[in-house]
This record gives sequence, structure tokens and C-alpha cells, in this order.
Amino acid sequence: MYQILKKRVLTPQTKLVVVRAPYVAEKAEPGQFVIVRVREEGERIPLTIADYSREEGTITLVFQEVGLTTKLLGLLEEGDAILDLVGPLGIPAQLPEAGVVVAVGGGVGVAPIYPKCKEMTKRGVRVISIIGARSQELLILEDEMREVSEELHVCTDDGSKGFHGFVSEKLKELLTAGLKPDEVIAVGPLPMMRATCEVTKPFGIKTWVSMNPIMVDGTGMCGACRVTVGGETKFCCVDGPMFDGHLVDWAEAIRRANMYRDEERIALERCAGCGGEKHV
Ligand code: FAD
Ligand code: FES
Ligand code: MG
Repeated sequence: MYQILKKRVLTPQTKLVVVRAPYVAEKAEPGQFVIVRVREEGERIPLTIADYSREEGTITLVFQEVGLTTKLLGLLEEGDAILDLVGPLGIPAQLPEAGVVVAVGGGVGVAPIYPKCKEMTKRGVRVISIIGARSQELLILEDEMREVSEELHVCTDDGSKGFHGFVSEKLKELLTAGLKPDEVIAVGPLPMMRATCEVTKPFGIKTWVSMNPIMVDGTGMCGACRVTVGGETKFCCVDGPMFDGHLVDWAEAIRRANMYRDEERIALERCAGCGGEKHV
């Protein structure tokens, strides 16, 4: 069973769990994810492997409670177990061996960017990180990110900490001031990744994004996670999740992410106040 060995509440909506999963930890690489099922009748949701320890046979997941399944997952405590967990899935991030990389993480996207920065720093890449959240209380993994970055810029939308504005605006400021990274990696909500790509395009900087479409099987069979990249259909679970952000059809990705909003809202409302025991 995938037992939760450690749990940390990072913000009121964001939790970190260290899960016993030795076979997944043995093979995991930065950029990969797992698909989790919390209960027998439940849906399957993808979560990035935010960290792993081959020695201890554990993986770390960081998730934001945005709907029913993530809320149910958040109810699990240390000692409880996650019903199913499959992975590692997806293609590991193709990280450079040298040079300068700007890593941009927005909201819970800081969690997936962390293992990439850790690996790049280990390889000798100069990592300049920009992390952000709506406000100071919602910022996650600041200390961890500082450890794996040569330079860390913190941004908040409301100005409660660091740069007052979006991570993409901070990036624009750095590029305009003359910073010339070899590439940019951005992970976060779709509008944030799109804005980052709009900033880097005129500078001609290769920009990788980690797409997060709705997934079901995670093995390339159902087609739920399709994204259009450079005019071609790709399945994010087997061809991604990292893609060249300048080639992504963002309007389609945003439309598809919102496809089941009404059903997701109804599922959450039906569960409200049930403490997770009764759900649809
Ligand atoms: P719902 O209310 O059902 O949905 C809220 C929104 O989440 C939806 O509008 C939709 O855009 C998205 N979503 C819903 N169902 C799915 C699904 N089956 N698959 C993907 N997206 C869905 N979130 C994190 O907090 N931490 C992570 O590390 C993380 N890593 C991800 C890695 C990948 C490769 C992908 C594709 C997504 C990742 N996500 C991550 C997003 C996470 O899967 C969704 O937030 C989660 O599925 C929402 O489920 P819900 O039932 O709680 O919310
Ligand atoms: Fe089914 Fe990718 S989740 S094809
Ligand atoms: Mg859901």
C-alpha cells in the first residue's frame, strides 16, 4: 500500500505528502508524474513527482486542493494509505548539462519545477529561479528553491512579498536588463505559462512548459490529454508533459481544461460537509 509517511501543510490549500512507493522511486526522474486514485469509485488524477529518494523508497507529492479528488486526498493523514498510485509516467524532462536556465514556477507549479532545478544544479547548470503566488501565505517551497538556485526571485500578485506582480513580468524585467539564458522552463497555471512564452518569444529564447491537461489513463490510450503542439496532436501523458511552449495551441488547451467545470462543481457541492465519507 502507498502509505503516507509524512504530511506537511504548506498553505491552507496546499499539502505535501511523502509516500512509500519504492518501485516508483527507483525509476523516477525529474519531470515525471504519477496517477493517483484516492478511493475505489474515484477518478484518476495526475500529480507530479516533486521529489524522490531511491534510498528511502519514497516519493513526494505536492498538491493544491482545487476540487473533489484533491480535497479527499488532503483528508488523508500520516499512516493512511493512497489506494492506487501508478508511475513514473511521462517522458523525463530533457534538462541541459551546462549554461544558464531561468526556472519559472507559479502557484503549485513551484513543486514540479523544484526537482528540475535540483537536478540542473547538480549538473552544474546556473539556475535562476522566479517563483510566485497570489500572496505571501500561498507561496510554497521558498527555502527548498533557494537551495537549488543560484539566484531566487520571489513575486506576489498583491505585493505582500518580493516583486509586486506576475512571474512573467519579473522575467521580462530580467531579460530587458540584459539577462541571456540559454532556455526558460515554466510550470504553473496555463495563463501563467502562456504569458511566460509571450515574454520569451521576442527574445528568441527556447521555452519549455509542463502541460497539465485532464488525464484519465495516463498511458496514451484514451485521448483525454491531447494537446496541439506545432499543429500536431500530442498526448501529454506519453509525449509530454514538457513541450516547446512557443508551439503550443494555448487557446485550445485552456478551453479543454475547462470542459467539465459544471460537473466538477456539482461533484464538490454534493460532497460539501460530508467530511469525505460520502461522495459522488
Ligand atoms: P476538479 O474540480 O475535478 O478539477 C479542477 C480542475 O483541474 C479542472 O477544471 C481541470 O482543469 C483539472 N482537472 C480535473 N480533473 C483532472 C484530471 N483527471 N487530470 C488532470 N487535470 C484535471 N496538481 C497539483 O496540485 N500538483 C501537481 O503536482 C500536479 N501535477 C500535475 C501533473 C500533470 C502531468 C497534470 C496533467 C496535472 C497535474 N496537476 C497537479 C493538476 C491536477 O491533476 C488537478 O488539479 C486535479 O486533477 C484536480 O482534480 P480535482 O478533482 O481535485 O478537481
Ligand atoms: Fe489518456 Fe493521455 S491520459 S491518452
Ligand atoms: Mg475531479
